[in-house]
Amino acid sequence: MSTTLAAVVRAPGEPVRVEEVTLPDVGPGQVRVRMAAAGVCHSDLSLASGKLAHPMPAALGHEGAGSVVAVGEGVTGLSVGDTVLLNWNPPCRACWHCGNGEPYLCANATDASRRVWGTLADGTELHPCLGVAAFAQETVVPAGACVAVPADIPPTEAALLGCAVLTGVGAVRNAARVRPGQSVAVIGLGGVGLAAVQGARIAGATTIIAVDPVEEKEELARSLGATHFLTPGDDLARRVRKLADGRGVDHAVECVGRAATIRAAWSCTRRGGTATVVGFGAATDQLTLNALEIPHFARTLQGCMYGSSDPAADVPELLKLYRDGELDLSSLVSRTIGLEDVGGALTDLHSGRGARSLVQF
Ligand code: APR
Ligand code: ZN
Repeated sequence: MSTTLAAVVRAPGEPVRVEEVTLPDVGPGQVRVRMAAAGVCHSDLSLASGKLAHPMPAALGHEGAGSVVAVGEGVTGLSVGDTVLLNWNPPCRACWHCGNGEPYLCANATDASRRVWGTLADGTELHPCLGVAAFAQETVVPAGACVAVPADIPPTEAALLGCAVLTGVGAVRNAARVRPGQSVAVIGLGGVGLAAVQGARIAGATTIIAVDPVEEKEELARSLGATHFLTPGDDLARRVRKLADGRGVDHAVECVGRAATIRAAWSCTRRGGTATVVGFGAATDQLTLNALEIPHFARTLQGCMYGSSDPAADVPELLKLYRDGELDLSSLVSRTIGLEDVGGALTDLHSGRGARSLVQF
């Protein structure tokens, strides 16, 4: 047993506080990681507020990287000292979806978030956010949640791969399958959307329309590959069509998580095009499509989970893009914070300002 500090939420909607947690020793198949960096993602806010259901009380954080400090019995391929990033959706490689080539839909991936991760001084048992609990000085995770990263990759950059980049770049490359010369609209320019903008540039899209209500995001979006920037509004679809040969974009990628922005993504898309939904919204937020427009526009509306990625295969490809200077990770970090600032950084997400806040340990 050992103690660590972690950002904890005791019940949905309660404040996030840094608390001392007793962690058990690594069990069979588990790995202990000393965290170096962890990004603050909108899903952490959604889980803490109760918008997305999650076992509670919970230790937050699911996008991070660090170094291995202990490995449990039976763990192969990982050693003390290795740099790893955390995969919050580790595939079991045994269920129907894993066998069907859809590891991102693994039926057993969420099991790790239901276990007891650690205990507060008053005996309260904590569950790890999405199985990993990255906002902690140290965390214990299943070995499958670790993806080894070469030692020369700074953990501050590797951390962002674990959620924002796998999700955003993956949505464009794996789910939308954007081809050279196509047009793409990205709605919502947080860490996930800004990664999607880069994914579109890397895929060879020639028209990349970035959409966000926060105008100060224009400069960063353009530097990462956007060719146009728009703020949302009732006539967004008309303005997008104007920039996309009057037809609408081949692909729209929704990175907000609201029915209204999913609707906007759908309406921006050309006849026969594809709208890909990446954002996680509330189960109560209803989307309306009429019975005529679906066949008439012949669009595809598809959901995308974790960038339809397999981190074991996708992380090495993303690292190659990073080394080649194609994928910019450091520009996604708008500020560096301490563990004690996580609660404030989550609240700040409401404003939409900044890209990623990154906790450095
Ligand atoms: N149209 C376009 N963009 C919007 C709108 C809107 N109507 N409303 C908000 N946004 C922008 C915000 O200004 C912000 O820039 O969406 C962005 C969301 O960014 P973050 O809060 O940083 O979210 P992020 O971590 O990128 O996650 C995006 O993906 O994984 C999911 O749960 C996550 O649903 C969330 C989404
Ligand atoms: Zn996330």
